Amino acid sequence: MAEAKPPPASPKGDPMSALCQGRLGAVIFAAGQGTRMYSSTPKVLLTLLEKPMLGYVQDALDPLCPGRVYTLIGFGAAKVRAAFPEREGCFIMQERQLGTGHALLTALNALDASDDGAPEYLLVVNGDTPLLETEILRDFTDKAVGRESDLAFISLSLRETGAFGLVLRRGEEVAGIVEARDFDETRHGPKGNEINAGVYCFRVGAIRSLLPLLSAGNKSGELYITDLVEIALNRGLKVWADKRGEDARLLGVNTPAELSRSEERLRAGIVERHLEAGVLLRNPGMLRIGPEVVLERGADLTGPCEIYGASRIAAGTRIASHCRLLNAVLERDVDVRSFCHVEDARIGARCVVGPYARLRPGAVMEEDAHVGNFVEMKKSRLGAGAKANHLTYLGDAEVGAKANIGAGTITCNYDGKNKHRTRIGEEAFIGSNSSLVAPVNIGAGALVGAGSVISRDVPENKLGLTRAQQLTLPKPG
Ligand code: UD1
Ligand code: CA
Repeated sequence: MAEAKPPPASPKGDPMSALCQGRLGAVIFAAGQGTRMYSSTPKVLLTLLEKPMLGYVQDALDPLCPGRVYTLIGFGAAKVRAAFPEREGCFIMQERQLGTGHALLTALNALDASDDGAPEYLLVVNGDTPLLETEILRDFTDKAVGRESDLAFISLSLRETGAFGLVLRRGEEVAGIVEARDFDETRHGPKGNEINAGVYCFRVGAIRSLLPLLSAGNKSGELYITDLVEIALNRGLKVWADKRGEDARLLGVNTPAELSRSEERLRAGIVERHLEAGVLLRNPGMLRIGPEVVLERGADLTGPCEIYGASRIAAGTRIASHCRLLNAVLERDVDVRSFCHVEDARIGARCVVGPYARLRPGAVMEEDAHVGNFVEMKKSRLGAGAKANHLTYLGDAEVGAKANIGAGTITCNYDGKNKHRTRIGEEAFIGSNSSLVAPVNIGAGALVGAGSVISRDVPENKLGLTRAQQLTLPKPG
């Protein structure tokens, strides 16, 4: 067994490095339904550029406390779990969603009962803030710990404070947070423009004993995490608000319009980064590129186009407008023409694809292969230099190098119960409008006559033909 490494020495006066040695944990609140999204999908699974909102928040937190980022789930828990199988073991269940205060209580109880126990500091983040960035959280946590705050939170100044919790101040000092719907000018004074972003850092030892004091005596009938601010102040604890102006990266997503705006902000930022890095993006305002997509310098993309997931586009490859790619790997100098769909597929160097081609999961094109208009591939391999240029379905098929698949060729891979494979050898030639009834093998160099229905193997270099002979007769009548 490998020896455990000693923890790295902490430079003096660097609170964060101390935190990284296990004093910090994080919880993402993701148990709510998100009723204002009008969707049956749990809000945190709604996507921005085809990646779930929760994934962004997890990614932002991971570098701060690897392995100690927990996600509180409830509404649609099974779906959320299933979307993040790699996080199994880091979910905390909140059976009933009784409010964010109850969410914190549930999380702390679970952490107390865990093998490691609760961490010294707990960073809490609402799961509906997808634009959060690690550096913001690191800076905030650093300062909160450095100031020895018992309760710290991030606040923003907004012209429109909307449904956010409002920060109350007495003079310069924070006095509390009141939810928009509970705000009452006669009680709370004139409305300011400082709101609670929903990002908190708690010193667990100081806060734990305050939780039983929360009450649901508000308009929502929920336990509010935000009430802890006033309770902590009344107990003489140290409360600090980290004021971060108008930073849109901290805005929560509560409505379809807010989701759309956040997605657009993210999209524009990603496009800008690729442009800065030297990728040629034409009509960039209409390019939607997922956060994990890799574009090599020298790639050439024209909008409108959507490229998502773990797609990689190598140098010299061109993608014309109106294409949608998901988890597509494209080697160098590929030419993808307009209106192609490519999903979970690989395209080798110098291939030509489309226009109007559809590569479904498991499609592989070796180098120099061509797929033309109205050709669909699924779980199929097209060998180097092979061509299927028109109106073809290749399902569960293996096509050898330099084979030619004529227009209208169909691999009949499904017999109503099972899928079967078709194998076509190198340099075989399949005449137009042929049906290859799988399982079936066409040997290398074999020829299939146009219009044939082939259900028995055609050996190497032979001609397979099932057509009835043409008759020439006197014209009737
Ligand atoms: C919350 C804050 C508000 C702040 C805003 C920032 C409270 C009471 N209010 O309001 O001050 O301005 O965020 O975006 O916290 N959740 C659970 N379990 C529950 C309830 C909620 O996990 O029992 C989760 C939700 O899924 C969501 C997050 O907590 O991800 C915040 O809840 P939400 O209802 O969206 O609170 P807001 O009304 O936005
Ligand atoms: Ca919210």
